[in-house]
Amino acid sequence: MILTPKNTNFTQRMNDNIVNPSQNKMPLFKIPIFMNELKKNPLAKLIGTWKGNTGIDLAPKPEEDENNPYYEILTITPVDINIENAEEQELKAVEYHQIVREKSNDKVSHSETGHWIWDKENNRVMNGFSIPRGVCVLASGEVEETEDQLTLTVFTDNNDTNGGIVQSAFMQQKANTKSFKRTFKVTGNTLSYTQETVLDIYGKVFSHIDENVLTKEE
Ligand code: HEM
Repeated sequence: MILTPKNTNFTQRMNDNIVNPSQNKMPLFKIPIFMNELKKNPLAKLIGTWKGNTGIDLAPKPEEDENNPYYEILTITPVDINIENAEEQELKAVEYHQIVREKSNDKVSHSETGHWIWDKENNRVMNGFSIPRGVCVLASGEVEETEDQLTLTVFTDNNDTNGGIVQSAFMQQKANTKSFKRTFKVTGNTLSYTQETVLDIYGKVFSHIDENVLTKEE
């Protein structure tokens, strides 16, 4: 029998059944448990309803760029599918919806629907999302995990062979997203992010920057 990560339950059972030498019995054999199977899904730490009211947005305007304090709700839920691409690539995902409102008038200034996707074998992460301006993004990058902090960093631009930016003809012409970078940090019940969306708009290249600190609701 060939042991692949799929039949690790079998492997685990076999290892559980290995006779303990200290009981004066001879061990028969030991099957290595595949390390990948033991890797925990880091995205589990994102799941929950997060709220934050110290958001800072730098947005483009034709004359003076705008600084908009904001608050938001970010809802992240598990995707209950064992994703297997081409019977080969195992992925785990969570899906989310982010709604941002300006503090000055409570109007929604940003709405985003997407996924964080973990590639278990390579321990890499993807962030795919759509915003209702006719722009979709697939960015990818690193997972860093210490005992008390998870950091996810993703990036894409229009030369990215791992993803990229898809935008309507209007947006390509008038408000072109050239690159996108996002860092998420989760420490216990606190999630903080910074992101930079580089736009070519109003005849200039503009860094549209957003950051916020959110707390998980119990
Ligand atoms: C917390 C996150 C975000 C907030 C609060 C936010 C807010 C804003 C605001 C207030 C504007 C100016 C809109 C206007 O003048 O009508 C704007 C423009 C824009 N944003 Fe965002 N944004 C966020 C994230 C993003 C992301 C992630 C992307 C894309 C990757 C994006 C793409 C754009 C584009 C393309 C424009 C230019 C549209 C235009 O003014 O014609 N934004 N954003």
